[in-house]
Amino acid sequence: MTLNLNEAALLRRHNAIGNEWRDAHAGARLPVSNPATDDVFASVPDSDAIDARAVADAACLAFPAWAALPAHNRAQCLKRWHALIVAHADDLATLISTEQGKPLKESRGEVMYGASYVEWFAEEAVRTYGDIVPAAVAGRRMTVLKEPVGPIAAITPWNFPLAMIARKIAPALAAGCTVVAKPAEDTPLTALALVYLAQQAGVPAGVLNIVTASREHTPAVVDAWLQDSRIRKITFTGSTPVGKHLARESAGTLKKLSLELGGNAPFIVFEDAEIAASIDGLMASKFRNGGQTCVCPNRIYVHDSVYDDFVAQLTQRVAALHVGPATESESMIGPMINARAVEKIVRHIDDAVARGARVTTGGTRVRANDGPHYFAPTVLIDVTPDMALSCEETFGPVAPIFRFSSEADVIAQANDTPFGLAAYFYSNDVKRIWRVAQALETGIVGINEGAIASEAAPFGGVKESGYGREGSRYGLEDYMHTKYLCQGLLD
Ligand code: SIN
Repeated sequence: MTLNLNEAALLRRHNAIGNEWRDAHAGARLPVSNPATDDVFASVPDSDAIDARAVADAACLAFPAWAALPAHNRAQCLKRWHALIVAHADDLATLISTEQGKPLKESRGEVMYGASYVEWFAEEAVRTYGDIVPAAVAGRRMTVLKEPVGPIAAITPWNFPLAMIARKIAPALAAGCTVVAKPAEDTPLTALALVYLAQQAGVPAGVLNIVTASREHTPAVVDAWLQDSRIRKITFTGSTPVGKHLARESAGTLKKLSLELGGNAPFIVFEDAEIAASIDGLMASKFRNGGQTCVCPNRIYVHDSVYDDFVAQLTQRVAALHVGPATESESMIGPMINARAVEKIVRHIDDAVARGARVTTGGTRVRANDGPHYFAPTVLIDVTPDMALSCEETFGPVAPIFRFSSEADVIAQANDTPFGLAAYFYSNDVKRIWRVAQALETGIVGINEGAIASEAAPFGGVKESGYGREGSRYGLEDYMHTKYLCQGLLD
């Protein structure tokens, strides 16, 4: 896919530090490739600890003035940024599809999804209320203020190159924090374009800074921020092992953390569910972004009495999904992000089949002549808990279907994982709906609904899926601390 942008300036090739776009101090470059073909089409700085400290310096310098700016003014900046993101939606979608691979229609959807967080937090910036507490003692006034936590570091994943960074930066800026950001090594260009648009929107120099780095240099960048006592919070979306590393290493300076980590979402279809609706919900949640989302169903449990019907209908729908490059208008599933992603999918399917599962559609690589990372959307049946894909996140277009016959058993199986991000179930029994929703150990539950994400809702997990929330007023709280003022001598 050639990069044909309406506004060439959106293709940024440097780090944004203060009011400058700079190369990495050592001059190293990181190639950026298109996952559809593996062809390198751009490069960005391969930064290290020195660059990380330079952006931290810029963010710290800018913090007092940004924090002191009236919330109304910060909101205006965010509103202008939102308008620019929407105005450049086509270019941003092209950038997303070229570096991440998802079909253009989905990329456009991601731009609007990411933009919705910017708009939401622009509107919330002016509502960061505190409290007046009735004093227990005469002559005292007790007041609670909300203040920005300070400069923060945002470390973001490749699966949603725009939405994930937007939903971290927007609440941070709304709260009055300044930001240092590092996008995933596979998808730096969308994030750089977003920062460029924020500058165009009038976000002052040093308030929003970004460095790019390779997989090899990322630990040095992140360690520099972990050790820097001026960085008061880290917000991270990615794997549970990395999240645990951040939790351990940030203890030295007791930073606030928001960790949106791995998932292993169950999707349960009860015998009283509307089967057609449950299949619609599963298609939407499982195959979005080619199955490369933390919240997509990883274990699908279908009641014995409707199993065969469900499998037949699902197989037909999945077999009809068009796999292809972002540029083919009928594409529903793009390439996987890289060779490692495809290898994991193959390993999970091979393991499941060796242990007795059967493939009803897909199961193989496809379009090998067009590129190395295409994989056919797959349905696996007769799946059992001893298979690797029941305890590891596949992160690909594979729908493994387990059979169950009792509500208590399926809840026990659904909860039998260290992860707790999202869960879904379909049922028409109102008593069951409340019982099951409360019994599921996850931060998010989709009830007769597969599309759960929204800028107005708190997104995040429990157990080893992390802590902290993104989106909604809870997401804004996470960038602020609470200060109590106790004033005496008032009588
Ligand atoms: C994720 O995969 O981490 C986020 C998906 C979403 O926002 O729906």
